[in-house]
Amino acid sequence: MDKTNYQDHFFFRAKTLGYRSRSALKLIELNKKFKFLKNGLNILDVGSYPGGWCQVIQKKNNKGKTLGIDLKKIEQIKGIKLIEGDFLDTNSKKKINEYFASSIDLILSDMASNTTGNKGLDCMRTNQLCLDVLDFSKNKLSKNGVVISKFFMGEEFNEIKTKAKKNFKKIDFFKPQSSRGESRESYIHCCGLST
Ligand SMILES: C[S@@+](CC[C@H](N)C(=O)[O-])C[C@H]1O[C@@H](n2cnc3c(N)ncnc32)[C@H](O)[C@@H]1O
Repeated sequence: MDKTNYQDHFFFRAKTLGYRSRSALKLIELNKKFKFLKNGLNILDVGSYPGGWCQVIQKKNNKGKTLGIDLKKIEQIKGIKLIEGDFLDTNSKKKINEYFASSIDLILSDMASNTTGNKGLDCMRTNQLCLDVLDFSKNKLSKNGVVISKFFMGEEFNEIKTKAKKNFKKIDFFKPQSSRGESRESYIHCCGLST
């Protein structure tokens, strides 16, 4: 299979399975590897539009609470609370904290900043989002909770790794097959808050 057909394969597979985005397949792969999706969890999905990850979560967490947030308005998904807002805003964080009275068991972020055409800048902005997710997790994640966040391989990699190592007991990196091969996109998996 050449590269274009290979990528189309994931796009059509996601559509055939009824997912709103090919990103849904990345979460399925991440979960196959790290097995973090369980029923009855408090789950936060950051950067959820158009909702592929939320659709995957919905199938696994019907007894739990899930909140999705994105800058863009997300079309309703049964059983999931969706809000429009900037994760970096204090007001959004306040809404998240209000929704989850207790701690959050699983924090997922597939956030990517809008592309500007300048790859270095795009990479830096997305990695700042990842660092913000790690900071937020430190205060809101349950003791044995899990964080998965997108980042781009680039200059900030060491900063992300250092922060994650300091805050969590175990960290791993994983690039799903359904992530475009030429993209610098990858995911960090962190579990167990350091005491
Ligand atoms: C790759 S898409 C997410 C796809 C999604 N996981 C799915 O399965 O459909 C990245 C999203 O991150 C969102 N995003 C970027 N910066 C954000 C921010 N500061 N706050 C909230 N969402 C943000 C974008 O609006 C975009 O919809």
